[in-house]
Amino acid sequence: MEDLLIEAPAKINLTLRVLGRRADGYHELESVMHLIDLVDVITLQPGECGIELHSNNPLLPGGEDNLAGQAARLFLEKYVVGAGVKIFIEKNIPIGAGLAGGSTDAAAVLLGLCHWHAGRVPEGELLELAALLGSDVPFCLGAMALEEKQGGRLGVRPVTALARGRGELLSRLPQRRLPWLLVVKPDYQVSTAETYRRYDLHSSGDRRDSGEFIRAWRENDLPGMAAVMANSLEVVNLPHYPEITILKAQLKEWGAIQAMMSGSGPSVFGIFTDPVRARQALTRLRKTYREAYLVSSYE
Ligand code: C5P
Repeated sequence: MEDLLIEAPAKINLTLRVLGRRADGYHELESVMHLIDLVDVITLQPGECGIELHSNNPLLPGGEDNLAGQAARLFLEKYVVGAGVKIFIEKNIPIGAGLAGGSTDAAAVLLGLCHWHAGRVPEGELLELAALLGSDVPFCLGAMALEEKQGGRLGVRPVTALARGRGELLSRLPQRRLPWLLVVKPDYQVSTAETYRRYDLHSSGDRRDSGEFIRAWRENDLPGMAAVMANSLEVVNLPHYPEITILKAQLKEWGAIQAMMSGSGPSVFGIFTDPVRARQALTRLRKTYREAYLVSSYE
């Protein structure tokens, strides 16, 4: 088995509607999710036995405290008992950011192990394993296959999808390229579980659906999309983290046609149509924020 180098892209939520609380404590969602070109790079090497996990970021939990380590354990226990793997994560995606950084690493590990052990995994089971790991992991599997990227690395297929249920029921949408996305993360993390707990205190569910956005997306109508983008979780996080409101306003003032919190935050992204204004905005943000990136859709 050869070593694998796999790109694991972050996602943004172009819409996120919380429809209500479910009996299992999770929330019923409708969210259009889109992969962006902000990637962790995962190296997988065959190991003797057990799971070793290291990263260039000391803040990242190691071993099986990491979702990618849990993904490896689940996979190996189920399909290749007694095998081992060494995982190295080059962490570029901000942590605790609402960009699915942990989920995408876990998805890349599942796909890499599946690549090595093709034939052992019955159709559909990888998606079930992904859903056990977390609500965003199924989407991060992309179209469930690795493909070759520039520089000989592997990566997932670029995907935009409407996620329903907890986030695991996926319908693919046509792929569109958003060329200038400015993503910025304030210097703190936000807990997803805490955000949903707060949501329950404030709201019983969003009555709007994602139909309008999807129509605009299908028609490639950028102003139409921008007009109806919304994230139900902003209602609860904006009052607690005023910086998110300020960032949204700044991005719009500096030329973004829309700016929104991604997932449960605190990352905010702005969609630009003018690359010059996008670069100027990046320069301004970099004066204050370490974690500000100008990226495109993942390709
Ligand atoms: O699925 P994941 O582990 O990423 O979710 C983290 C937390 O976010 C869950 O424990 C749950 O509290 C909350 N959540 C939710 N409804 C969802 C997704 C996540 O309540 N659809």
